[in-house]
Amino acid sequence: MCGGGRPGTDSVGGSDVRSGTGTMPGALLPSVLLCISISLLQTSNGQRKKPGAERMKTWDPATRRVPGDPSKGATTVFSQPKWVAIEDDTTLSHKLHSIHAALRERFRFVQHISVALYDADTDDLKTFLDTSANHAALHAYHAKLSQSGSLERMRQTRQSRVIHDLKEYDRVKPHTQRLVNAGYRSSFTYPIVLNDEFFGFVFFNSFRVHAFYPHVCAQLEPIARLIGMIVVFELRMVRNLVGVTRTTQQIVSRRHYETGAHLDRMSRYAWLISSELSKTRFLSDEYAEHIFLFAPLHDVGKIAIPDEILLKSTALTLEEFEIMKTHTTKGLEMVDNMLGELGLCEMPFIEVLRNIVIAHHEAVDGSGYPRGLRGEEIPLEARIVTIADIFDALTSRRAYKPAWSIERSVQRLRDLADAGKLDAACVDALVKALPQIIAVKERFPESQFG
Ligand SMILES: [Fe+2]
Ligand SMILES: [Fe+2]
Repeated sequence: MCGGGRPGTDSVGGSDVRSGTGTMPGALLPSVLLCISISLLQTSNGQRKKPGAERMKTWDPATRRVPGDPSKGATTVFSQPKWVAIEDDTTLSHKLHSIHAALRERFRFVQHISVALYDADTDDLKTFLDTSANHAALHAYHAKLSQSGSLERMRQTRQSRVIHDLKEYDRVKPHTQRLVNAGYRSSFTYPIVLNDEFFGFVFFNSFRVHAFYPHVCAQLEPIARLIGMIVVFELRMVRNLVGVTRTTQQIVSRRHYETGAHLDRMSRYAWLISSELSKTRFLSDEYAEHIFLFAPLHDVGKIAIPDEILLKSTALTLEEFEIMKTHTTKGLEMVDNMLGELGLCEMPFIEVLRNIVIAHHEAVDGSGYPRGLRGEEIPLEARIVTIADIFDALTSRRAYKPAWSIERSVQRLRDLADAGKLDAACVDALVKALPQIIAVKERFPESQFG
């Protein structure tokens, strides 16, 4: 059960964008406390150290010593160090804000750091983390990377990019236009790469033109790599959790009650609904990404349901339905056991997973199960996943029905919202995102197996 320890260390590298080739040496991310010192980039008199002098270190705040320091027993004291403690149970957004705050001690002109993630299955580059105060520049935004020009070249070549004046650069691209409208004038962009797998980009932006001279970029590169490592480390934890759970599901049960295509589609529908909702209420991109990552586990508890009930093609009896309803509570038990075994109970956003598993059959009017929650008592992530799941079921062929048209399926969702079963705002968000939802549906078609 939950309450286990923290994960151990991991090794992550990135590409050396100046040479455009090779992989950075791995670095260790400690399990309990990660500290970086932006002041390591400076000597005590404020002058820059030679390139390569910067390092990431673990640090014991009690003794102010670096573990393994050869100065046996002597306290290691840095001159006015600016240590940034990055607790590994805080969100990535919080970690990025901490790094940005420390970075601004040295580079006041770096007003904004953001991270975008790449979905190789859809070619979408999605906003993920952002340190701007009001997230006004780029939020809940996604675009096809292959159509992005220089960013696509960066993905292919693993090269970094500097834009000295955004006003003079590529103004036809909507994301550039949004940055300019928010006042940003120059940028430095670094690709996140691990073992030749491309994950996305780290962006540094400034209100100044020509802010990113080569000596500045040389010092930002290790910070960009650090940000990339932290992001990849956490994403891998989540993906490993989802992967292990789904593999266990397949080993224990050879029954295909959820196809891969269904999970690919409904998780992306859930992300699109979240992103659409975030235009009218603040939902972070990080939250939306975790809904996307965890949505495929919504029915994990069905492996505990007997075949004769799970695969029955006719209506369930009342008694059978009572058994079927337990897939929510059994799913939560399984998830909690898995989190405990893997030591992931304190992982940020883990409640999103638990809420999706336990509450995706709750109804807004209180008639759902297992707890009969009402309205906003039902966690938003569960309301979103419910609609994504039902929409995909309606628009897909099932043993007992053909695939319904988009129009008929949308009408059914609206009827369910009018009847008080589904969250009307989430249904509206799905309708607004329909062009992108149809694109996802076409990208992940059903096979002959459903
Ligand atoms: Fe379910
Ligand atoms: Fe489902």
